[in-house]
Amino acid sequence: MVRLSSTINQESATAPVVFLTGAARRVGAETARVFHAAGYRVVIHYRSSEPDAIALVEALNQARPDSAACIQSALDTRSSIQAAADDAIAVFGQVDVLINNASSFFPTPWGEITEDAINPLMHSNLLLPMAMIQALAPELKRREGAIINLVDIHALRPLANHPAYSAAKAGLVSLTKSAALDLAPRVRANAIAPGAILLPEHEGADHEQSLIDQVPLNRMGSPTDIAEAALFLATAPYITGQILAVDGGRTLRQ
Ligand SMILES: NC(=O)c1ccc[n+]([C@@H]2O[C@H](COP(=O)([O-])OP(=O)(O)OC[C@H]3O[C@@H](n4cnc5c(N)ncnc54)[C@H](OP(=O)(O)O)[C@@H]3O)[C@@H](O)[C@H]2O)c1
Repeated sequence: MVRLSSTINQESATAPVVFLTGAARRVGAETARVFHAAGYRVVIHYRSSEPDAIALVEALNQARPDSAACIQSALDTRSSIQAAADDAIAVFGQVDVLINNASSFFPTPWGEITEDAINPLMHSNLLLPMAMIQALAPELKRREGAIINLVDIHALRPLANHPAYSAAKAGLVSLTKSAALDLAPRVRANAIAPGAILLPEHEGADHEQSLIDQVPLNRMGSPTDIAEAALFLATAPYITGQILAVDGGRTLRQ
């Protein structure tokens, strides 16, 4: 389902288009805002956060008419992923940047790992980005576009009790490099590895200070820190296959 107001603003009709998955809220929403402020038209995918997605699109269209739209999809089957990719292209007639942001995150302690238990983690963090890249590769080649995958510093140094999440993100690091290799020279693919940015909503803020204590720059990162790194990678013409840690120096410490 695509939501867009009906008139086309000629002024923005040549602006590049970014498509972001899972971007109604939090880091994805801020990334959409930062790209929009830089002149991009934005297509925001959401799964369940409809009120947030609609409010975000309305705010962006108020700032610049007909510059934003949203697409609802569970993205849980190959056909729904292909349909969302097709819808994303259809909104403005092009997609120049794909940001694979949607992600599930929860612990999977050893002894409780089953295929069903890890499926949402493996799907959202690895299989969905792979299928979305495949679905949009022809369009990204046509537009000489870019892919940005959201990974995690814990892709390379696993997070305790999160083996499935950490492994899925490690797979996404490898996938980023494969996409960079195989889709070159027309498409660039890079990843951002955030450190501690926003705590999961089901977690209290009680261990925030202990996280900050591990960060040389002495603060949590902000969604804007991630969004600005994504904008940089989207527009850096000679960078591909790289994983950019945006972690305040966290990975410098043991
Ligand atoms: N926050 C951090 O500190 C942090 C740290 C390291 C890495 N990252 C990475 O940065 C990205 C953004 O982080 P975030 O914390 O803003 O993400 P988030 O809020 O946890 O998730 C973003 C969106 O992903 C969608 N989603 C979740 N599970 C899904 C599934 N199984 N299928 C399809 N969509 C699904 C949800 O959309 P709906 O709400 O519409 O359902 C959700 O709002 C993620 O890739 C995350 O792994 C974040």
